[in-house]
Amino acid sequence: MKTRMLSPGDAEVAGEILRRGGLVAIPTETVYGLAANALNGEAVANIFKAKGRPMDNPLIVHITELEQLEDQDLVAYVPSAVYDLAEAYWPGPLTIIMEKGSAIPDEVSAGLDTVAIRMPSHPVARSIIKAAGVPLAAPSANTSGLPSPTTAAHVAEDMDGKIDAIVDGGPCSVGVESTVVTLCTETPRILRPGGVTPEMLEEVLGDVDIDQAVLGKLKEGERAASPGMKYKHYSPKAEVYIVRGSLSQFAEFVNAKDPETTCALVFDGEEESIRCKTLPFGAEGDESAQANRLFYDLRTCDDLGIKNIYVRCPSSEGVGLAVMNRLLRAAEYRFIDL
Ligand code: TXA
Ligand code: MG
Repeated sequence: MKTRMLSPGDAEVAGEILRRGGLVAIPTETVYGLAANALNGEAVANIFKAKGRPMDNPLIVHITELEQLEDQDLVAYVPSAVYDLAEAYWPGPLTIIMEKGSAIPDEVSAGLDTVAIRMPSHPVARSIIKAAGVPLAAPSANTSGLPSPTTAAHVAEDMDGKIDAIVDGGPCSVGVESTVVTLCTETPRILRPGGVTPEMLEEVLGDVDIDQAVLGKLKEGERAASPGMKYKHYSPKAEVYIVRGSLSQFAEFVNAKDPETTCALVFDGEEESIRCKTLPFGAEGDESAQANRLFYDLRTCDDLGIKNIYVRCPSSEGVGLAVMNRLLRAAEYRFIDL
């Protein structure tokens, strides 16, 4: 299949492809999504094929208006907390899990009786959803297991020849996927951290639990609350290590490695003391900047043929929880303590 490159002005073209059951990669404020008509099970099944995604991992449904939840039978009912969350954080990087409605095909929910809903803020994503006239199911637009794409070029690396079109909306601003919170548990529970932090959710919801799989490792045979968390994830081809220690210890450690095949992800301004390739990973303490860079840097390392990536250990505060959650998986939980 020939994959067309579209620009933000081509929302009508993208909408038409989606309406007739095709696949289009679209920019969102978090990461690029691989979209299909969420009400068309066959179209949605093709997303799983293009990504090589296990069929038991459900997708997020993207909308532009709150009314769609009931009018299009996307959810069984709208819990009152959804209105409060929407008021505070929609449109934006927040996905809410509710009981699913009759219009949701099994391919979207992977057979669960719940559905994940997000209202993105990216103007291009919004114009494409509106042009399509249907809600769009969209996982991140990467091959399953690889880091999520935050530029159209990174989407093309994985999806060229496999999907109908890619809409280039420039780099994504948040850089990691949305926060996923379920309202189907007694206390709302964060299944995946993202740009909307636990503190921001607590402001609206009161008590919020954080699923133990967010920073912990699932034990053998343990059931994941969010099916996506049980898979190997976000891993570049290179081996990733999270390194704890001071900058001088870090510099001494990486400077002893092969400079040709090693890359150091360092906080902005730390490049000077390092002899191997470095990529800036946001300023120390600026978790949003780190989120913005993480996947981009990991993919850049693969483009450069890097074999080992050493990452300065970031803080898990605020958006840092999302950074650490993705980094732990990319590194397969490997730490080096200096
Ligand atoms: O920012 C984002 O959320 C991006 C953009 C494109 O919107 N999308 C995204 O989709 O990250 P995906 O498929 O890569 O991640 C969806 C996550 C998975 O971990 C999945 O298991 C979980 O949400 N999920 C979806 N539906 C669920 C449900 N009904 N119950 C529990 N977890 C669910
Ligand atoms: Mg994904």
